[in-house]
Amino acid sequence: MTFQPSFPEGFLWGGAISANQAEGAYNRGGKGLSTADIIELIEPEDRTSMKLPFPGRQDIEHVLDTEEDRVFPKRFGIDFYDTYKEDIELLKELGFKTFRISIGWARIFPTGTETEPNEEGLAFYDNVLDEMHKHGIEPLVTLSHYEIPLHLATEYGGFYGRETVDHFARYAETVFERYKGKVKYWITFNEINSLMMAPYVGGGLIPDVVPEGRMLEATYQTAHHQLVANARAIEACRRISPDARIGCMVIGMINYPNSPHPEDVLAAHQDMRNTLFFTDVFTKGGYPSYMNRVFAENDIQLKTEPEDEELLRNNTIDFLPFSYYMSAVSAREETTGEKAGGNLLTKLKNPYLEASDWGWQIDPVGLRTLLNQLYERYDTPMFIVENGLGAYDKMEEDGSVHDPYRIEYLKSHIEQMKEAIGDGVELIGYTTWGPIDLVSFSTSEMSKRYGFVYVDRDDYGEGSNKRSKKDSFYWYQNVIQTNGEEL
Ligand code: BG6
Repeated sequence: MTFQPSFPEGFLWGGAISANQAEGAYNRGGKGLSTADIIELIEPEDRTSMKLPFPGRQDIEHVLDTEEDRVFPKRFGIDFYDTYKEDIELLKELGFKTFRISIGWARIFPTGTETEPNEEGLAFYDNVLDEMHKHGIEPLVTLSHYEIPLHLATEYGGFYGRETVDHFARYAETVFERYKGKVKYWITFNEINSLMMAPYVGGGLIPDVVPEGRMLEATYQTAHHQLVANARAIEACRRISPDARIGCMVIGMINYPNSPHPEDVLAAHQDMRNTLFFTDVFTKGGYPSYMNRVFAENDIQLKTEPEDEELLRNNTIDFLPFSYYMSAVSAREETTGEKAGGNLLTKLKNPYLEASDWGWQIDPVGLRTLLNQLYERYDTPMFIVENGLGAYDKMEEDGSVHDPYRIEYLKSHIEQMKEAIGDGVELIGYTTWGPIDLVSFSTSEMSKRYGFVYVDRDDYGEGSNKRSKKDSFYWYQNVIQTNGEEL
């Protein structure tokens, strides 16, 4: 008899966006500047080599002094701030069970340090959440998706400063109080492990606060504070909104050894810790023992407070949310070879895999392996909260957009999710990235599109901003309608 796995009843199908890549309205409704608002468009000729922003105080001041000559796509996004009603209606038509959004922290606390929240910001998310509920869509909400109030970055170096933990805890409590009953699924940080590669984007760290030659220590210090902030938010969520479930998200990455050479296998094992260090802390409730060696060898001394250990121990996650776009190949140090693309975790090229136009290596089977590995390690429900193919789309003269490549990518990943469920993994949901085209995180371009819905807007913000359904729209609608039976 052939074994045919299927998706469980009530599986949470949907899509995901972030505030800074979609909302626009960066200076309306009392919002303060966020760390994302000063990130500029990367021009086409520079898009192949990823340059991650790591600006200092002077750079930030300079950017703000000369802003009229620059393009900041994350300031205009796709105008979701004004179009959320029609956008959510389209998602309803797709049959979404859930929709992942993030709250722009600087909409609620413009500098991050206020004691009273900005009512206009709170009211905006009330409206968005109500609109979702009106259409039977369960909100999945991230507290910090690659942005924090800019002031916290320039003042304290973001989460490098212990003060930011308290400011984050106040923000978290405020929104848990306000939206209790409206939000059942919370995520504290987007891709918390990105911090190790992108400390400004992930944690607001700026070079000015880093002591000479102590970058790695400063990054781990920032990570420690984010992990404590995550624990504080979990504690507050359980107290304020006991029916809600809360997780902290990582980039889900699987690292293959470049060869069976034992040193390559060891390198892959160690690279997996880019993901597992963080998930180990917030699922097991403390630092894994392998970090002692990392800290000792790199002369890293973390500043901690007496309450940290207990906070981490008592406040572990309810479910494990992660993104998955690609896999990576790890090799022993002396290895040379062609590099693959990727927004954060660039490694060697895998000869067995195809890649996207941006060089991201497409690996659906890797998703099955990763789901199994994580579930076996943690025995906690899994939620894939981002997956998708960034591609160039072409709108035809009749207004249609034919995107078989996107359907193929998603189909092959959903097939492997189904296999993982058959393997025994408890997978509770799947939200594809950018169901409506939005601004790219890594290059801030619009041309890299992920959506089922095309947005008529270019890299510079020009265009009608009109929404049109692509072929993948009807395909995903049927996937949801048949609970993943017809792919
Ligand atoms: C994830 C981020 O890393 O990848 C998203 O959480 C991002 O914010 C997504 O948009 C895709 O990356 P990019 O660079 O193609 O937009």
